[in-house]
Amino acid sequence: MRLDKLLSNSGFGSRKEVKVLLKRKLVTVNGKTETKAEAKVDSEKDTILVGGEPVSYQEYLYLMMNKPQGVLSATEDNHQKTVIDLLAFELHQQELFPVGRLDKDTEGLLLLTNDGQLAHFLLSPKRHVDKVYFAKVAGRMTEDDQKAFSEGLILEDGYRCLPAKLELLTYDEEQDTSDVEITIKEGKFHQVKRMVLACGKEVTFLKRLTMGPLRLDEQLAKGEYRPLTDEELAALREHLPESIKKG
Ligand code: URA
Repeated sequence: MRLDKLLSNSGFGSRKEVKVLLKRKLVTVNGKTETKAEAKVDSEKDTILVGGEPVSYQEYLYLMMNKPQGVLSATEDNHQKTVIDLLAFELHQQELFPVGRLDKDTEGLLLLTNDGQLAHFLLSPKRHVDKVYFAKVAGRMTEDDQKAFSEGLILEDGYRCLPAKLELLTYDEEQDTSDVEITIKEGKFHQVKRMVLACGKEVTFLKRLTMGPLRLDEQLAKGEYRPLTDEELAALREHLPESIKKG
């Protein structure tokens, strides 16, 4: 990998900023001062120091975000704020992207990474990774709805969903609203909202609580994020095929 890329990915700023460090002769590779941004280095074999301090290089980053409403689960948009805009500036160099999409008005658990392979496997329709959502619904969700969910709802376009779980939490008679938890194994466009619509009711609030083994850290305020813990990452990797498990 190029030295400037490795240093940038390791938190030493943009490629431009890294160039300044190199010019100022602050970087050594195996004891020799290196000034060329394009110098090739091997993070496993070479000893790289910046200002005398060893560089700890992480190939991939994994962040858990509590996505707020009002931002897009996208990497860029000309008009609207994206989840990438919520990240600290130095993370903008890391080519992070959201693993799957939450609607603009949905909040909750969102994984951001630059590990395309892990994202690919978590999103693969073949893998049926469970996702649990909390929803507020206008109207009363019933045991009949529960049965329809478990049998595989048919959406308005004729698509038959995989069996899903509807848990009835509370019903507020005065407001005529239901609080429910919904577990799905797929990730079709607006899936939860469309499933509830197929029962003749409407989601008014939606929050993702889990994805596979990951559970939203409720300590994270809306818009905040943190790196996954080693345990969370290990649990996620359990979802990968044996042949590509890392770490
Ligand atoms: N289902 C939806 O309808 N919206 C989301 O954001 C996620 C799942």
